[in-house]
Amino acid sequence: MTAGWFITFEGGEGSGKSTQAKRLADRLTAEGHAVTVTREPGGSPFAERLRALILDPKLETHSPLAEALLFASARADHLEQVIRPALAAGRFVVCDRFSDSTRVYQGYAGRVEPRLLEALELIIVQHTKPDLTIVVDIPAEIGLARASLRLNTPPNQAPSEKTPKQPRSLLADRFEARGLDFHKKLREGFVEIARLEPQRCVVVDGQKSPDDVARDVWAAVQSRLLNEAT
Ligand code: TYD
Repeated sequence: MTAGWFITFEGGEGSGKSTQAKRLADRLTAEGHAVTVTREPGGSPFAERLRALILDPKLETHSPLAEALLFASARADHLEQVIRPALAAGRFVVCDRFSDSTRVYQGYAGRVEPRLLEALELIIVQHTKPDLTIVVDIPAEIGLARASLRLNTPPNQAPSEKTPKQPRSLLADRFEARGLDFHKKLREGFVEIARLEPQRCVVVDGQKSPDDVARDVWAAVQSRLLNEAT
């Protein structure tokens, strides 16, 4: 059996990447592919427990390195329990955020030495690098406005961008609460990764309508992966 394809979605807050990850998974399924759709932090029972801890808005001030190690721990379990078995079974794995989020949130825009994160990534991710990373790019101001709309939408009412995945207390997480400069850095970081690794990454314009973004994502998957597979 051939190994499956590993696709990750990355981007700042309110970029619409979660919606697009779900849409791509649906499209692949409709085309007859076996798909596992998952997310980070989380994706396995143990990693979801760590997610609840990491994103808890009531968390005391803590060490940025300790936090990065929690993301790494969650990722190690997610890879071992979910991602690697699915790829070995020949499935597509579509993951909402992965190691580029650590590089950008904790490293580029954060407070952890990037070289340390590089070493951690080597240990945790090993050979399970994404075959394709879709960076959904959007100006920080627009992304933040969308994210705050999501936070202020009552749970029983459909938000414009995406359905809340969990109780609002957790969604109102600390990362979204940071200032505009931080979110501008995030955008810069993701675009920089895509520039440095063009074989792996494709940047799509998140300001387009969800249908148009989905079309761009599908074009990237076809040209980068599906055409190659046939
Ligand atoms: P989530 O509610 O899933 O946000 P989003 O819809 O933007 O993905 O919360 C995940 C948060 O965790 C998000 O702010 C990005 C952050 N994060 C990191 O800081 N490092 C990481 O390695 C990952 C995977 C996520």
